Amino acid sequence: MTGFDTLTDILGARYSCRAFRSDPVPRDTVERIVTAACRVPSWCNAQPWQAIITDAAETDRFREALFAHAQANNSQPDLDWPKQYVGRYKDRRRACGWQLYEAVGIEKGDRAASMAQMMENFRLFGAPHVAILTSEADLGTYGVMDCGGFIAGFCLAAQALGVATIPQAAIAGHGRFVHEFFDIPDSRLVIAAISFGFEDADHPANRFRTTRAPLDEVIDWRAG
Ligand SMILES: Cc1cc2nc3c(=O)[nH]c(=O)nc-3n(C[C@H](O)[C@H](O)[C@H](O)COP(=O)(O)O)c2cc1C
Repeated sequence: MTGFDTLTDILGARYSCRAFRSDPVPRDTVERIVTAACRVPSWCNAQPWQAIITDAAETDRFREALFAHAQANNSQPDLDWPKQYVGRYKDRRRACGWQLYEAVGIEKGDRAASMAQMMENFRLFGAPHVAILTSEADLGTYGVMDCGGFIAGFCLAAQALGVATIPQAAIAGHGRFVHEFFDIPDSRLVIAAISFGFEDADHPANRFRTTRAPLDEVIDWRAG
């Protein structure tokens, strides 16, 4: 087994988990995940990421407050939301949405059920922990980009230790609320959250896997 095989196994096994068991992840496991994730590159080695990580009791406190907030308030993100999804991006977004709805038995056009499933974001899909990721605002777009690398590193390191994850922009959508709840200064941007814990393997929401575009939609070879 080569290092590449090991890496691609981990990359292939990771998926976004949308139903968790309630048992917590030991703190030393979380520290191993974060230590590994911190090995990703960043411009000038600035390492702009910081993570507020909640224990089970604090996760519950946040979950309850966030759900109530999201029911009653529009989003107020720190980052610009995507302007639009058109063409292949719209198709891919739809496809993974339908996969989820099909897995949990939501019929096309059932808006109430789709909305209820979307609101599960604000219950953190039942995860016992959440990592709130922030970046230094002064580092701008590249700081945010570095944090994207950190998210990937976190999810892969977690997968390697048997811990399931889901990155969630939905939480960052309520960035103003997150700032206030966790007392985050405006000098830091709320990028995303990662809910994590042990997967509920029997839950239908965890029974589908997304696809990836063929390589010719990714690589544009140029030969001299
Ligand atoms: C930055 C980022 C934000 C995401 N936000 C959400 C979210 O708010 N809610 C959600 O259900 N999934 C979210 N996802 C998960 C994506 O839907 C998922 O990664 C994608 O469909 C590919 O599926 P996979 O992770 O299972 O391979 C997010 C992923 C990333 C990387």
